[in-house]
Amino acid sequence: MPQLVRPVSKLAGAISLPGDKSISHRYAMLAAIAGGPSVIDNFASGADCASTLGALERLGVRVERDGRRVVIHGVGLEGLRPPSVTLDAGNSGSTMRMLAGILAGQSFLTRMAGDESLSRRPMDRIIRPLEAMGARIRAREGRYPPLEIQGGALNSIDYALPVASAQVKTCVLFAGLYAQGVTTVHEPARTRDHTEIALREFGAEVAVCGRSISVRGRPSLKARVLRVPGDLSSAAFFVAAALLVPESEIVIEEVGLNPTRAALLDFLVSQGADIRILGIEQRAGEPFGHIRVRSTRLRGGVIEGELTAALIDEIPVLAVLGAASQDGLVVRDAAELRIKETDRIATLAENLRRMGVRIETRPDGFQIPGGQRFRAARLDSFGDHRIAMACAVAALAADDACLIENAGAAAVSFPEFFDLLHELTR
Ligand code: S3P
Repeated sequence: MPQLVRPVSKLAGAISLPGDKSISHRYAMLAAIAGGPSVIDNFASGADCASTLGALERLGVRVERDGRRVVIHGVGLEGLRPPSVTLDAGNSGSTMRMLAGILAGQSFLTRMAGDESLSRRPMDRIIRPLEAMGARIRAREGRYPPLEIQGGALNSIDYALPVASAQVKTCVLFAGLYAQGVTTVHEPARTRDHTEIALREFGAEVAVCGRSISVRGRPSLKARVLRVPGDLSSAAFFVAAALLVPESEIVIEEVGLNPTRAALLDFLVSQGADIRILGIEQRAGEPFGHIRVRSTRLRGGVIEGELTAALIDEIPVLAVLGAASQDGLVVRDAAELRIKETDRIATLAENLRRMGVRIETRPDGFQIPGGQRFRAARLDSFGDHRIAMACAVAALAADDACLIENAGAAAVSFPEFFDLLHELTR
C-alpha cells in the first residue's frame, strides 16, 4: 500500500522501540539449540525475525509468542529434527546465512528458500566456508537461494573472511559449535559483535583477539532469560528525522548502544549533531541507554573504509541527511550496498533524484552535494524496508506531501515505524 507522508513542523516526544533485529535473530537461534526454555523479552517485531522463529519451529523447536515476549524451548545442540518442508527465510538474509551455520552441523538435509529479493542475494560467501568444514551445499548457479544443505560431522576451520560481514562471521561461528576443536574467523574490518556476546551469554567459550574470533566446538548451551535492547538501526530513522526537521526534540528510550553499532551516533556527533546519551546500562553484555536528539544543521562528512562496514545499514538515511547538510556526503568502499535487499545505491539515487536532489553514483558509493532541498515526489521503496523509511524521513522535510509506493516493506524490520512517526509528529 502506498503511504502519504506530509512535511511536518517538528518532531517531539519520547518513544521506545521494538528489540534489535540482529540480536533477536542470534538469541532465537542460540536459544533453540540450548537446553530448556529461554525467555526473550522485547523480541524484534519485524517479519525478518518472524522468519527465523518460523524456521526454528519447522526444525522441531517449540516457540511461544506473547506480544513482544518469546519463549523458545531449546532442544540442545543435537535436538533439531529434519523439517518436512522447505524452510522459508522470506526477505531475511540473516535467517538464511546464520541458520545455515547451524544446519551445516545437522545429520539431515534441509532445503531453505527466500523471497524474490533474497533469491538474488549471494550465498557463496557462506557456502565456501561451510563446505570447507565438511557440509555439502547445493545452490542455484552455485551461489543463489534456494539452498540444499546436507550437514554432518564438521571439522573446525581457521577462516579469513573475504568480505566484512557479520552474517558470514556468525554463520561460521555457529557451524563451529558443531565442529570438534576450535573454529577461528578473521575479519577484514570489525563488524557488529552481537554473536560473540550472545555465544558467551549462552555458555559457549569464545576468545576474541583483535579481529580474530574463536569458538570451541561442542559446548553445552544453557537456556537464558534475556531482554533485547531497542534497535539502533530503527532508531536511526527517528534520529535523522529529528536532526533534519527544525525545532525538533525527541527521546528514544532503551536503545542498544553496542560500540560496534553506535558508530552512527559518533559519526553524527562529529558533524555537530546535538545528540545526548542519557545514562548507559549493560544487560547480558549489551549496553543500552536513552538517546536525546535535537535538530541540528550537520556539517556533512565522508564514510569510507572501516566506517562503511560499521554504518552499512544506516547509509540510506545518512544520505538524506547528507543532502541537507552544509558540505554534503561522500560514501566509498560500499559495494556491499548493491547486494542488500535492493541495490541500495541505485534505489536511493532513484528516489533522491525524483525529489530533485543531485547525487553522483559510483560502483562502490556515491557523492551528494550539501545544501539541497527535497521536492515533493512519488517515491518507491522497491520493496526495501530501509529505503521505505529513508524516503519517509526525506518526505518530512519536503515542500509538499510525498507518496511512497510499497511503503509496507518497512514491516520487514519495523512494522510500527509509520505509527511511531505519526506519534512524534502529531
Ligand atoms: C547483519 C549484518 C549486516 C547487516 C544486516 C544485519 C547482522 O549484513 O546489513 O542488516 O545482523 O549480522 P552483512 O553481514 O551482509 O554485512
